[in-house]
Amino acid sequence: MTQEAYVSQGPLTTEAGAPVADNQNSETAGVGGPVLVQDQLLLEKLAHFNRERIPERVVHARGAGAYGTFTVTADVTKYTRAKFLSEIGKETEVFLRFSTVAGNLGAADAVRDPRGWAMKFYTEEGNYDLVGNNTPVFFIRDAIKFPDFIHTQKRDPYTGSQEADNVFDFWGLSPESTHQVTWLFGDRGIPASYRHMDGFGSHTFQWNNEDGEVFWVKYHFKTDQGIKNLTAEEAEILAGKDPDSHQRDLREAIERGEFPTWTAYVQIMPAADAATYRFNPFDLTKVWPHADYPLIEYGKLELNRNPENIFAEVEQSIFSPAHFVPGIGPSPDKMLQGRLFGYGDAHRYRVGINADQLPVNRPKATEARSHGRDGFLYDGRHGGAKNYEPNSFGGPFQTNRPLWQPFTDFTGATGNHPTPVHAEDNDFVQAGNLYRLMTEDEKERLVKNLANAISGVTRDDIAERAINNFRQADADFGKRLEVAVQALRG
Ligand code: HEM
Repeated sequence: MTQEAYVSQGPLTTEAGAPVADNQNSETAGVGGPVLVQDQLLLEKLAHFNRERIPERVVHARGAGAYGTFTVTADVTKYTRAKFLSEIGKETEVFLRFSTVAGNLGAADAVRDPRGWAMKFYTEEGNYDLVGNNTPVFFIRDAIKFPDFIHTQKRDPYTGSQEADNVFDFWGLSPESTHQVTWLFGDRGIPASYRHMDGFGSHTFQWNNEDGEVFWVKYHFKTDQGIKNLTAEEAEILAGKDPDSHQRDLREAIERGEFPTWTAYVQIMPAADAATYRFNPFDLTKVWPHADYPLIEYGKLELNRNPENIFAEVEQSIFSPAHFVPGIGPSPDKMLQGRLFGYGDAHRYRVGINADQLPVNRPKATEARSHGRDGFLYDGRHGGAKNYEPNSFGGPFQTNRPLWQPFTDFTGATGNHPTPVHAEDNDFVQAGNLYRLMTEDEKERLVKNLANAISGVTRDDIAERAINNFRQADADFGKRLEVAVQALRG
């Protein structure tokens, strides 16, 4: 319903629909007397107001969303049997929520932080969610470290602020973060808007075709608006002047009919390559260089419709890396495996057990036919149908065909095993390669940004350990950083 449609609706009512006589003066015992409990309108309004908030997302609380279309532009049927990717020209409705990671609801948009890229494809085989970032890698490679990592990015329990000590202590002690931190403090660390950045699935996922063949894939969405970033100085000013800069930019561009688009690419690795590839293909701190696995163009994404109600459609939207469709599945990436649990659990806590059935979240090109019933805010959609399976009353039935193919390559005892290391894997190699790819200007800005941040650390040992990771990535990088931090710390 648009704002215009809502205003033409006749008398104001209570939540139960009874007409309201007076919405300006509460009811009192005589003129100037105390307020009466029988003023049910007053009590209802105050009680409803107290319950307007739901728990904010524990990460990625701050975000903006838009609807659009994904169109297939190349034949990928020899790699996946996913129906929404089955024909050139096929269109699927999508909803995409962009976000920052660390800030609470209401935080400024123009900050140095990865941007979330959470995408829901409303396919005819169920909703497929791709919950990625604007970065191809991440800070850590095992989900067991995620709560600790995020604690260092959010507010300190004592000071109530984000603390450089915590941020760089964790990164210094987690050298696998060096690649992502180098990326984050480089030019792309503060996008000029959500429209001017790329999106990545980041993890490796499984595609499987009609014959059951398996491929490992990485998703890339390249902005057709061109990459545009803010310098640290520009961002500082914008964040203060217009905390909603990115949200506003997206909404206004769509209102103007300037629909942002991205070209979709996929890197495809035949399953047989995985065991001997030079980098562990399931390590989220690593990219697959394009020289090894080129980008294959297969689609176009366009965002063309704003949500009408931010709370209903953006705040209550839910995305889960566990929402797969036939032909697409997870990989053994330990981060992804942890995320398969984390999101559904967050949704049940934050939005409730029927979150999947809210308009923004429910399938649009098919329907959910589960026997999950009842619970808070159940809408009765199953009517009187039987609520168990198998049944003899024509109820929905299992297909006997898993969405993805089994993993086959694992042997040995259970245990808290580190992610296996392949021939060229170490924590620094790709961070060093990224640094050496930068122009002189880019290197200067990277060193300046990092030095400014590290100079906020209060303990020398924490600052030195953080710098040492960059030294190991590239000697020149480390040296410049050390000099710059010394100059700032005195
Ligand atoms: C094991 C590691 C991780 C865990 C346990 C985790 C957990 C979470 C949780 C609990 C939320 C809030 C969900 C909600 O309340 O609806 C969230 C949001 C999000 N996460 Fe993660 N996360 C992890 C790693 C990642 C990574 C590696 C990426 C990207 C590659 C990512 C991208 C996102 C995005 C985009 C959102 C916002 C979704 C939205 O717009 O609703 N997360 N994460």
